[in-house]
Amino acid sequence: MLRINGLKKSFGEKEVLKGLDLVVPEHSIYGFCGRNGAGKTTTMKIVLGLLAADDGEVLVSGEKVHFGDTPTNRYIGYLPDVPEFYSYMNAMEYLRFCGQITGLSPKETDTRSEELLDKVGLGKEKHRIKGYSRGMKQRLGIAQALLGRPKLLICDEPTSALDPVGRKEILDILSSVKDETTVLFSTHILSDVERICTDIAFLSEGTIKLSGKKEEIREENRTSRYYVNHTGMTSEALEKMVKRFGDAVSSYDSNSKDLINEKNEASREFIFDTTKGDYTEFIYFIADHKIKVNKMELIEPSLEDIFLEVTGE
Ligand SMILES: Nc1ncnc2c1ncn2[C@@H]1O[C@H](COP(=O)(O)OP(=O)(O)OP(=O)(O)O)[C@@H](O)[C@H]1O
Ligand SMILES: [Mg+2]
Repeated sequence: MLRINGLKKSFGEKEVLKGLDLVVPEHSIYGFCGRNGAGKTTTMKIVLGLLAADDGEVLVSGEKVHFGDTPTNRYIGYLPDVPEFYSYMNAMEYLRFCGQITGLSPKETDTRSEELLDKVGLGKEKHRIKGYSRGMKQRLGIAQALLGRPKLLICDEPTSALDPVGRKEILDILSSVKDETTVLFSTHILSDVERICTDIAFLSEGTIKLSGKKEEIREENRTSRYYVNHTGMTSEALEKMVKRFGDAVSSYDSNSKDLINEKNEASREFIFDTTKGDYTEFIYFIADHKIKVNKMELIEPSLEDIFLEVTGE
């Protein structure tokens, strides 16, 4: 749906995008992640032809985007980071106005607006936009962006200013439109990405450090380390285990390296790294020493951990 090749953009001396590549598949919900100032909004504005790139190309549905001349925008619905409204209008008036300036027929605008206002939970809202909460404004903004049945919906940080309930509402709406459109949204809230995205890209220092299907990224970053929680292991058994498996056994507590405390008790939690010690032998060791394991599981890195690792922070 969207392809970006070698995109570069500087503001004065500041190189913000240094050769950004991105491929957004059709019907994906794409999480475009990066810290404040990473260049997310800049990238989106270039995709919309609102900002000139220094180098590289952008293709929307296979058509090249040109700055200032934007027929590709007929495929796109856009929700800016801080949407502005005419606050004296109500939701229906606002959508009618948007329909008018985008050339939709009044009949189609009305039908589509009613459908969309229901979808975003504003169907019964008769008040002027002036009295809307931030969450309501974001929901109206999404309805506006979807009015022309875009093939690509671009939302710039749609959840950043919202509380958990408001965020969930927006995420549910974005999930629900996946069949009719492709969603690209920027964020620095990785739990939102975790919740609804099919694909992710991490932008840092002007380039995409990692991108692809969320599940594949998870799979590739799965660790080799197990968390082990047990009861009743003596400090002697623990010492023996450390001697036998060396570096493979380490403390789970990041504040302390010691597996045996000052009272000479074995720590109830530790980590076993299967790249440093033989997993099967370890299991035999546990059985031989009749260690009661309460919990043992592969440590799954969160997207947050992966992001911090790929960005070197
Ligand atoms: N018009 C401009 N003139 C000068 N510098 C700019 C301009 N627009 C953006 N920048 C700079 O480019 C960098 C990237 O900004 P951008 O707004 O794209 O980041 P972002 O990832 O959207 O951040 P945020 O999460 O805060 O919205 C920032 O350092 C910003 O100061
Ligand atoms: Mg931004």
